[in-house]
Amino acid sequence: MHRKGGIDSADRLIIALDVDSEDKAMRLVEKLKGRVKFFKVGLELFSSCGPAIIDRIKEAGCGVFLDLKFHDIPNTVSKAAVSVTRLGVFMLNIHALGGYEMIRKTVIAVSEEARKKKLNKPKILAVTILTSMDGFELNKIGISDNIEKEVLKLARLSKAAGADGVVASPQETALIRKECGKDFIIVTPGVRPEGAGPGDQKRFATPRGAITGGADFIVVGRPIIEAPDPLEAARKVLEEIES
Ligand code: C5P
Repeated sequence: MHRKGGIDSADRLIIALDVDSEDKAMRLVEKLKGRVKFFKVGLELFSSCGPAIIDRIKEAGCGVFLDLKFHDIPNTVSKAAVSVTRLGVFMLNIHALGGYEMIRKTVIAVSEEARKKKLNKPKILAVTILTSMDGFELNKIGISDNIEKEVLKLARLSKAAGADGVVASPQETALIRKECGKDFIIVTPGVRPEGAGPGDQKRFATPRGAITGGADFIVVGRPIIEAPDPLEAARKVLEEIES
């Protein structure tokens, strides 16, 4: 196993548990936990099971990335993030498009809560531009900058506001790494092993492409959780990361 930047290569893969029940989620965790350390709980699973699912995953010895992508006024987001801090997750995320004040207030509130309650401070990531969006989609919501420029602008803003890192597509990773430095965490969804269908992802790359571009963590959902043998599919992705 290789270790780079303090992270074991096997820990760089985060599995998106995009399922609608605790049973389905925990079956995947039990199958994969020997190989994978981090699991992502997103909107579907959290809306189905609530915070209890986080305890179950932690009891299995794994870490949780809570992907609820908060985007609201600073007061609301910072308070929601404080509640998430009490759940004991490894990472949480908010939308960079919520703006500097929203990110800054959240960073301060979460750090304060973790300090007061002697909890591990979750890493706070800001989502730049969703990997399901391309230039055409962005134009429709009034963003006419090219995607790379827009993502870089949001990454810079997130860093200035104190976020630990960003969520971005594998296609922007190298640029963000160059701009924001080696300690800024970059998490990339939109990862597709050779031959896997893109689904709704528009800005995607292979696991090897994402890691060589400088991603710290890659998030993979459907290509693993919908594979006939999820463990074998995860093993193949890990092999690419190692190589
Ligand atoms: O199935 P797939 O590998 O496309 O899953 C990607 C996961 O990453 C999903 O859970 C999705 O919500 C999440 N995600 C994303 N793009 C972002 C942020 C999160 O696809 N910008």
